[in-house]
Amino acid sequence: MIKTIAIAGKGGTGKTTVAALLIKYLVENRLGTVLAIDADPSTNLNLALGVPVYETVGDIREEALQEVQSGSSLGGMSKPDYLDLRIQQSLVEERGFDLLAMGRPEGPGCYCAANNMLRLSIDRLSKSYDYVVIDNEAGLEHLSRRTTRDVDLLLTVSDPTMRGIIAAGRTAKLIEELDTRVGDIWLIVNRVPGDGSGELKLAPELEQAIAENGLQLAGLIPEDPTVGEYDAKGLPLIELPPEAPVRRAVEEIIKSLDGFL
Ligand SMILES: Nc1ncnc2c1ncn2[C@@H]1O[C@H](COP(=O)(O)OP(=O)(O)OP(=O)(O)O)[C@@H](O)[C@H]1O
Ligand SMILES: [Mg+2]
Repeated sequence: MIKTIAIAGKGGTGKTTVAALLIKYLVENRLGTVLAIDADPSTNLNLALGVPVYETVGDIREEALQEVQSGSSLGGMSKPDYLDLRIQQSLVEERGFDLLAMGRPEGPGCYCAANNMLRLSIDRLSKSYDYVVIDNEAGLEHLSRRTTRDVDLLLTVSDPTMRGIIAAGRTAKLIEELDTRVGDIWLIVNRVPGDGSGELKLAPELEQAIAENGLQLAGLIPEDPTVGEYDAKGLPLIELPPEAPVRRAVEEIIKSLDGFL
């Protein structure tokens, strides 16, 4: 079975950070082949992963539409074959994983047919990997547009605030109403301040809110100044040292997701 893991949550909560460190874990522990999908139109997972992006799925859609409009024969290929080939060519294959950047979701005009074909292409591509990790944009548009395939594990990332937890609860409920099939949904609370004892703990009010919003907590990630330092210098987060608190916390969370990986 393919293991598709999507990371969702409010803006700026740490989705891309978690996605990058999860990919790092899968690659480093040689758990299988990994396709990373950057589903954020502003394309920045590659920076956290330290790889370049030359072309996005959005670019390919625009190019394919222009080709078709100009009467091109697409090199004699069928449209699905052409898109499969172009998507394959756009993959960044480095550092032990492949990266596909979605880019802009839609240009002007109705591209339903093109989007459908692209989705099928991405589904076909995903089948040849052991893991597909999708870093989503803030909000649920991507899932509701069905540009994201079925998801086995959805990780919602929140900050340690009441508003964050309530928003995460709403996300989980909304997803159940969409026709995207989602297996398990787990909450990760990121940027939890330490109390000096070295152990992370949420305020009792937040723990209660998590339960009341029907969320299950996968784990906590500490506020870690090295993340900000790396981001400020434009250094890839996957190069954070193994002892960085944020890396250790993500590893603990992955290990606790019992038997999933
Ligand atoms: N555990 C952490 N400790 C310190 N800083 C963090 C931590 N996690 C994330 N950050 C910082 O928070 C900011 C947002 O992180 P990130 O880009 O991962 O969030 P995001 O949810 O992907 O954002 P967006 O919604 O814009 O895609 C970054 O500047 C990052 O350096
Ligand atoms: Mg992001």
